[in-house]
Amino acid sequence: MKQIYLDYAAATPMDPAVIKAMQPYLSDKFYNPSATYLPAQAVAKDLAAARAKVAQILGAKPAEIVFTAGGTEANNLAIHGIMRRYSKAQIITSAIEHESVLQPASLYEHLEAPVKKDGSLDLDKLTKHVTDNTVLISVMYANNEIGTIQPIKAVAQLIVNIRQQRQKKGNKLPIYLHTDACQTANYLDLHVSRLGIDLMTLNGGKIYGPKQSGVLYVRAGVELEPLIYGGGHERGLRSGTENVAADVGFATALELAQTKRAEETRRLQALQQDFFGLIAKHLPTASINGSQKNRLPNNVNLTLPGQDNERLLIKLEEKGVLAAAGSACSASNEEPSHVLSAIGLSDKDAQASLRLTMGQATTAADVTKTVIVLAEIVHNPNH
Ligand SMILES: Cc1ncc(COP(=O)(O)O)c(C=O)c1O
Repeated sequence: MKQIYLDYAAATPMDPAVIKAMQPYLSDKFYNPSATYLPAQAVAKDLAAARAKVAQILGAKPAEIVFTAGGTEANNLAIHGIMRRYSKAQIITSAIEHESVLQPASLYEHLEAPVKKDGSLDLDKLTKHVTDNTVLISVMYANNEIGTIQPIKAVAQLIVNIRQQRQKKGNKLPIYLHTDACQTANYLDLHVSRLGIDLMTLNGGKIYGPKQSGVLYVRAGVELEPLIYGGGHERGLRSGTENVAADVGFATALELAQTKRAEETRRLQALQQDFFGLIAKHLPTASINGSQKNRLPNNVNLTLPGQDNERLLIKLEEKGVLAAAGSACSASNEEPSHVLSAIGLSDKDAQASLRLTMGQATTAADVTKTVIVLAEIVHNPNH
């Protein structure tokens, strides 16, 4: 039985080109890039090239790229980095951020901005939360559970306006915009100036690169407190001998993702429409969660009223379909998804919801088979 993998939002297989690019740093080129001898300096040069590649893709400078061990670390560095520096200030996040944003934010003066029914940020309510004491706004670029893409440019414009008002009032507190872009690098523009952001999180595990790899983009002039103290690596923000293999792997994966972006987006958008059409036909009581318009092309999140998603996942797996109930990024917990709650689903409906996320190997036949199998499971409780 062919396995149909529909959990690309949780993990992607490594691209063979990424593995190939990483290989030398796991064997011959093992040297510590801080060492003085020539072979080590060659490794340092390769690391600098990886940093420059990432910077170029983001429209940034190499010095603005901090390599991290994944998205969780980059989010923690962004939030603790700013909030420890301005310790009495306030942070605002959306209510549907990943836990690696919500948990560190909760340690400070933190307000959550609600989202609308389609998961898009309620900009008016966000604006009302802003005070003279707000130093950081963190809004994800797109949500990992329901795929809704947030109006980041509009939030950036709001920040520009706040800065102007503060200047007039003589309020010297800066205000920054952080975005967690972990789910977006395969599909969306990452140019930091076009987006108008100050800090951006990316990770390799979602873009056919290595897990525990990623970056935090930090706009020049934004000052952060370090997350990990030690030998002063990564501009002193997170010390530790660089993981050159992971960093080169991440840079390679990001480059490939952005090269394939336009075509893969078109291909998956068509499959997504197939998915929605087949769901409407074979599972007419189902409803789709998230935005129809501003949505990642690989995400399908649906509620099947009266169903239990745990049972559905077990039955789907028996039929060769690997899917998810919500975010697999947090270790399994029984609580209903905070994202589905925030868009107004009852606990019961949240627990009747599935997330199916497509990727490079997903075909039209996979989509058809998944919906047919799901309909069989739903319509035949003893199946
Ligand atoms: C939106 C989002 N942010 C952050 C993370 C955490 O990234 P990592 O697993 O690389 O630490 C994930 C998923 O894992 C994610 O989907």
